[in-house]
Amino acid sequence: MQRITIAPGYEISRVIRGGWQLAGGHGAVDEDMAIDDMVAFADAGITTFDCADIYTGVEDLIGRFRLRYRDLRGQAALDRLHVHTKFVPDLGVLRTITKAYVENVIDTSRKRLNLDRLDLVQFHWWDYEMPAWLDTLGWLKELQAEDRIDKISGTNFDSDHVDAIIDAGIPFTSLQLQYSLLDRRPEKQMVTLAKRHDFALFCYGTVAGGFLSDRWLGKPEPEHPLENRSLTKYKLIIDDLGGWELFQALLSALRKIADRHSTDIATIASAAMLRKPGVSAVIVGARNREHLGANLAIASVELSAADLAEIDAALVGSAELEGDVYTLERDRAGRHGSIMKYNLNKGE
Ligand SMILES: NC(=O)c1ccc[n+]([C@@H]2O[C@H](COP(=O)([O-])OP(=O)(O)OC[C@H]3O[C@@H](n4cnc5c(N)ncnc54)[C@H](OP(=O)(O)O)[C@@H]3O)[C@@H](O)[C@H]2O)c1
Repeated sequence: MQRITIAPGYEISRVIRGGWQLAGGHGAVDEDMAIDDMVAFADAGITTFDCADIYTGVEDLIGRFRLRYRDLRGQAALDRLHVHTKFVPDLGVLRTITKAYVENVIDTSRKRLNLDRLDLVQFHWWDYEMPAWLDTLGWLKELQAEDRIDKISGTNFDSDHVDAIIDAGIPFTSLQLQYSLLDRRPEKQMVTLAKRHDFALFCYGTVAGGFLSDRWLGKPEPEHPLENRSLTKYKLIIDDLGGWELFQALLSALRKIADRHSTDIATIASAAMLRKPGVSAVIVGARNREHLGANLAIASVELSAADLAEIDAALVGSAELEGDVYTLERDRAGRHGSIMKYNLNKGE
């Protein structure tokens, strides 16, 4: 597995294991098996784990996994692991958020993860109309100074807001964002901004919840309700991009490329993103270890210029998704925003 240094002394695997799939909306979770799976990922070289304060039960699971990994493989192996969590204050508190609220959530994550100092905290803010987002980042910076947080990062901020965060003197290590063959909104501005300010991009959605895989090649368009929340989310993106026929043409093109590299569609879809300028890592969600082998191959597939041209050709005629990073999703009444849950820190 390729590794990359995103800040001095901070080296991660270029494929990050996503944790949302263990939060309950993707089928039942057997906790012991989930921990065994994490050991298998870490042993294989995928040593970076993404989770969130609002992914129910997942920080606890990763915390238990960390203790188990230390017992099994020793302190040096544990030290190679990184856990990237998120700080997602409830929509309901944004108007009145206080430092005490921030401290409470961060300390809860530290406790659950069995970490004195959180490795990397990705801050999310639901509503720019609520002005305290910059104050909140200031409090995160204070917690960083107290060694409760190592790296401060963001998720789902658009280019103007990332610019403002950096202007305000917040040390900004990375941005986690949706960036995939289907969603190229980051190419409008964010990729350039990341280069200018030297922060890392971590992409989610590179396999579109599993849509970008052999499983969907040649299949009829599915009807709602879909099997899980990821598929519901990414089907909207497919619809906006141009619909099922265009998506099937993309899958066919990816299958041909996968044949040439003796691999599968999902691996090609993530590999194509990993070689994009500014992209440090792809975050691939996993319910279990079924796709571990394929996920390991992502970093070693070497796509040619011809491969990439074939992907571009399959996307000719696709629509440009509206707005900057996460603009569509910020409209809470809209198709993308209305499927989300906004107050999970309160347990609603
Ligand atoms: N910051 C945010 O707002 C945000 C939003 C979304 C996600 N994320 C993070 O990013 C992670 C990944 O994004 P995502 O949840 O949208 O999911 P994703 O990575 O787009 O899709 C994951 C699913 O794709 C399927 N899959 C993965 N590898 C495959 C392969 N090689 N072949 C076939 N199918 C494969 C699996 O489904 P099956 O198990 O059903 O086969 C897997 O559960 C999440 O876990 C989370 O940590 C963050």
